[in-house]
Amino acid sequence: MNIPPHTILAIESSCDDTSVAVVQGGKVLSNIVSTQDIHNRFGGVVPELASRAHQSNIVPTISIALKDAGIDVGEIDAVAYTNGPGLSGSLLVGSSFAKSWAWSKQIPAIPVNHMRAHILAHFLEPGPTPEFPFLCLTVSGGHTQIVRVNSPHEMVLLGTTLDDAAGEAFDKVAKLIGLDYPGGPAIDRYSLLGDSKQFVFSGSKVKYLDFSFSGLKTQALRFLEKTMPSNPDFFSTENGKNLNDFCASVQHSIISMLMDKLTLAVDETGIKEIAIAGGVSANSGLRYALTEKQKDENWVIHIPPLSLCTDNAAMVGIAGVFDFEVGVLGTLYDIPSPRLPDLNTACL
Ligand code: KG4
Ligand code: ZN
Repeated sequence: MNIPPHTILAIESSCDDTSVAVVQGGKVLSNIVSTQDIHNRFGGVVPELASRAHQSNIVPTISIALKDAGIDVGEIDAVAYTNGPGLSGSLLVGSSFAKSWAWSKQIPAIPVNHMRAHILAHFLEPGPTPEFPFLCLTVSGGHTQIVRVNSPHEMVLLGTTLDDAAGEAFDKVAKLIGLDYPGGPAIDRYSLLGDSKQFVFSGSKVKYLDFSFSGLKTQALRFLEKTMPSNPDFFSTENGKNLNDFCASVQHSIISMLMDKLTLAVDETGIKEIAIAGGVSANSGLRYALTEKQKDENWVIHIPPLSLCTDNAAMVGIAGVFDFEVGVLGTLYDIPSPRLPDLNTACL
């Protein structure tokens, strides 16, 4: 696909990562992510601390991203920024900064829907880019969606989670067994050494293309309540196999639920051009399951590079490239929205 060659400064601050990127068409000139380690000790993101950390991080992160991009500031056509969904205070820091910066340079500011940006990350290099229409399984810490993508500006939500998101399920189970936040990457690492058939966590039964992950968390909790009192050393270092097997079994259950619904979506729509996006698309088990489908069922799969799976500003930048091209621009009056039900809009 021909990506218009606009140069966009992008800011992402929807949760606990402050990220700034410069993209030029599909090229990532810089993509800096300042991670906020302060939340680790609380076992989850503390919104007030996240807003304050964004405020401290945003100026240095912008300076580094601009320097790394190696361009003249005058070359920037517009500033794209995440306007939702996300944490209210975190969004306010990024959006206020983006609008002020754009206003000071007399260039447009473009509000972007975070979930749409995860999907459009597939149009950044190295590619190859997906052909339209394609299906995208977007799996993050706050959302789990199956989306039919007809164009960068026309996305149809086919299914969504009714309770926890897939990433949230990873993180909540990880917290139950004392792993640091976010627990998804750690469960993934232990899983690689474990036997996923050792413990059985059953999937959920919800209608059509929707998901539910809260039952898995409850099953994991019941398992621990039953096991730990009689065997407090179950997860000790000497019993390392138990931790690996437990993680592999939980991961297997989450991936099975995701893949069952994605397969149903392929059957229902007849679309075999398939992408995954969002933090959980970094999961090795999910990536492997997708490659198996490519082999066995001729799916044409698109798996993002790891740097574009979790939250980053380059994905916001490419959304900005597409919006700038067709003149979908924001105003100084746009207000961030913690909830954005429609993928095609960035403001309520
Ligand atoms: O998209 P993202 O960076 O932020 C949101 O928009 O929420 O996703 C973060 C989520 C977290 O729940 C994290 O545990 C999960 O992505 N995650 C993973 C892996 N890497 C990140 N989950 C499973 N396996 C991974 N390798
Ligand atoms: Zn995200």
